[in-house]
Amino acid sequence: MIPGSNILLGVTGGIAAFKAAELVRRLKERGHDVRCVMTRSAEAFITPLTLEVLSGHPVYREEYLQPDNSGEELHISAAEWADLLCVAPVTAHTLARLALGLADDFLTTTALAFSGPLVLAPAMHTGMWQKESVQGHLEVLKGRSAHVVGPVVGALASGETGMGRMADLESIVLEVELALGDRDLVGKTVLVSAGPTQEPLDPVRYLSNRSSGRMGFALAEAAARRGARVVLVAGPVDLETPPGVSRADVVTAREMRDTINELALDADVIIMAAAVSDFRPSEVSDKKLKKRAGMPQLSLESNPDILAGLEDLAPHALRIGFAAETGDTLEEARGKLEAKNLHFIIANDVSRSDIGFDSEHNEVTVLGPARAPVFFSRQSKRALAVKLMDLFSEALKKREGAPAPTRG
Ligand SMILES: Cc1cc2nc3c(=O)[nH]c(=O)nc-3n(C[C@H](O)[C@H](O)[C@H](O)COP(=O)(O)O)c2cc1C
Repeated sequence: MIPGSNILLGVTGGIAAFKAAELVRRLKERGHDVRCVMTRSAEAFITPLTLEVLSGHPVYREEYLQPDNSGEELHISAAEWADLLCVAPVTAHTLARLALGLADDFLTTTALAFSGPLVLAPAMHTGMWQKESVQGHLEVLKGRSAHVVGPVVGALASGETGMGRMADLESIVLEVELALGDRDLVGKTVLVSAGPTQEPLDPVRYLSNRSSGRMGFALAEAAARRGARVVLVAGPVDLETPPGVSRADVVTAREMRDTINELALDADVIIMAAAVSDFRPSEVSDKKLKKRAGMPQLSLESNPDILAGLEDLAPHALRIGFAAETGDTLEEARGKLEAKNLHFIIANDVSRSDIGFDSEHNEVTVLGPARAPVFFSRQSKRALAVKLMDLFSEALKKREGAPAPTRG
């Protein structure tokens, strides 16, 4: 992300407007400068004074449409000042005005004059949200590259529960930072593996693990947002491909190895976030194993070690592995880092149910040769992916031109 960006926060007239106060605080905590624009309706829900005090700047209101004494056109200077315009909450009414390009108040006039990234956090009653007109306006705005975050299902102001609640503030801040993202990986190819593998036992049964693929998908998304060409090799997962990412689906560890080996030659960065099964059944029955045939005796054999093979295959790529451990996490990870001669290893404890496998969150320690461990406390995998990509991209810049590490 780009620290210290100028964020113009538009606040419109919905119940969720009160959350804009906390959003200003969170954006400022992340080092951004925030100025607020309120619609006339928003002032019925939250006072300009609150946003003025929290942002440390006067709030742009309707009166500002008139040039002030200096003759400055404030909607133009606000649009020039901002690196990003975020409207949170955005009402159905303002979504329509933005989609149509209307310019009938300070917010919409500034939006029309503004050419940077636009982040929208809609919030409204489910019935409004489901209207074709609202969805149509949203599609128009997405087609113009607006970043839409939420809404989500939750408690609504009407007392009902349903779709239409504004996305949580962490997701909005994350979307803002992804939208601001450095395009520092333009021209680079990033290869990411994600998810589990499945090792068949018979036509209906397999050995696998609980990896959801979320961490790898989040890393692929974060790399694509920075302008990289991203290829994602995914085991069997139930996740949507992030925008701008090419995806190759595989099932077994050997399929994953073959696909990765083929793609690794072109990669500048290889991130192996998949939880590849270490073992597979030595024999695969072509018919379903029957209970009446008695207890099957399973014998296993080792799967290929994809990470270990990458050094020879892609000596110039930045190679990053994951160590999902259930005890002595850091020690095990340090061992893997050295044995596989990686540039980074991301250690996480998958024995905890609140992070790691099958969770939306993760807490990790990043190890690298000759660098102090970096700890990332529990946070969403999407937020963590952005920070990990900061680290990898910085390392890529530093080693550009430098020789690949050698064993020693
Ligand atoms: C109590 C109350 C709550 C409202 N909440 C919402 C809302 O959550 N989302 C929405 O789209 N409109 C909501 N509205 C309707 C908007 O305030 C109305 O469409 C207004 O014209 C929006 O103007 P603006 O988009 O310029 O701020 C609400 C209206 C009232 C009276």
